[in-house]
Amino acid sequence: MKEKIKVMTIFGTRPEAIKMAPLVKELEKSEEIESKVCVTAQHREMLDQVLELFDIKPDFDLDIMKTRQTLTGITNKVLEGLEELFEAYKPDMILVHGDTTTTFAASLAGFYKQIKVGHVEAGLRTYDKYFPFPEEMNRKLTGAIADIHFAPTSGSKGNLLKEGIEESSIFVTGNTVIDAMDTTVEKDYVFKTEELNRIDFENKKVIMVTAHRRENWGEGIENICKGLKEIVTSNKDVELVYLVHLNPIVKDVVEKHLKDVERVHLLPPLDTKETHNLMNKSYMIMTDSGGLQEEAPHLGKPVLVLRNVTERPEAVEAGTVKLVGTDFDTIIRSANELINNNKLYNNMGCAVNPYGDGKASKRIIEAILYYFNKNTNRPKDFIY
Ligand code: UD1
Repeated sequence: MKEKIKVMTIFGTRPEAIKMAPLVKELEKSEEIESKVCVTAQHREMLDQVLELFDIKPDFDLDIMKTRQTLTGITNKVLEGLEELFEAYKPDMILVHGDTTTTFAASLAGFYKQIKVGHVEAGLRTYDKYFPFPEEMNRKLTGAIADIHFAPTSGSKGNLLKEGIEESSIFVTGNTVIDAMDTTVEKDYVFKTEELNRIDFENKKVIMVTAHRRENWGEGIENICKGLKEIVTSNKDVELVYLVHLNPIVKDVVEKHLKDVERVHLLPPLDTKETHNLMNKSYMIMTDSGGLQEEAPHLGKPVLVLRNVTERPEAVEAGTVKLVGTDFDTIIRSANELINNNKLYNNMGCAVNPYGDGKASKRIIEAILYYFNKNTNRPKDFIY
């Protein structure tokens, strides 16, 4: 009997889980791969929601999360946990995703055991070491370690080439999040969250908000919340749905400014299906998230990004995403323009697909088989 390739997918936070889920499902179907899933559980509740939705039962769970955890704490626990696991179960390749501390620490743990590392969503860069922090450095370090790079776009491939990465090790696959959205977005979706079913999406301009990044902690989040309060108070046709991260450092500030404000709904992080469908029914999105910048263009929803730089320039170039930063006046002005200027809104709200065609997971698996000489043909790159 032919030996199977032992592939272990490792992730720890909600966004990694969403984007790895379609890949895990495809890996399970492959006859040439023995697929295992290890979660670090850098997130707990927020991760478990995704695992449940996609019906993924991890084979290994490091269960590391604690309240107010530090970057060093996460890194240490992932390194130690994986060292032990890799001694017991020896994968041929590990797959990591994107730019979290789980991603970086898992790649390093793999390198220490000389296990091949495949990096999904490789090559995103802002070239600013502290924005986003620590993600920019996490993905650079992971890129330096990885043996095979799954770049979502030709732009991200270009970034890797500039860093001297061997071209033959880079595959342009599209982003797996678009694969995931094919299964989550439904036309006449009814929310599990009753508060959302009571919102009049037809007649109100609903703004969906998320903001929690480390580099926005403090003044950034304060400005964002004050700006949002002004926007909703001065536009009576606007309703705001803010999905508030569970981190107390973020939650306390959001509640201080926006709790009990009329037409503001503060909700805990929703599961992926609820979130994607909320996005689909909303008028526009305001966020500091990276993933939403990929998902919203697919749905034709304008996005105002509450950051000064982005590692996802494709949708900015396509015109559906605009960087507005965290300055109080700029946030209000930019939102008011989109709320009151139909022409501008319609120009921004056209659906574009620079991030994928729903086949990223399949391409990644073909690339893995090619890398291990199980396929003779190199998979074709995703082209936008
Ligand atoms: C992490 C990633 C970030 C990613 C984000 C997605 C790092 C450094 N950061 O940031 O790249 O974009 O996830 O959300 O890897 N918490 C809970 N329950 C949960 C999840 C979080 O209570 O299910 C609270 C805990 O208090 C925890 C805190 O949130 O200590 C921070 O979690 P952490 O993973 O350190 O940072 P994130 O901001 O979520």
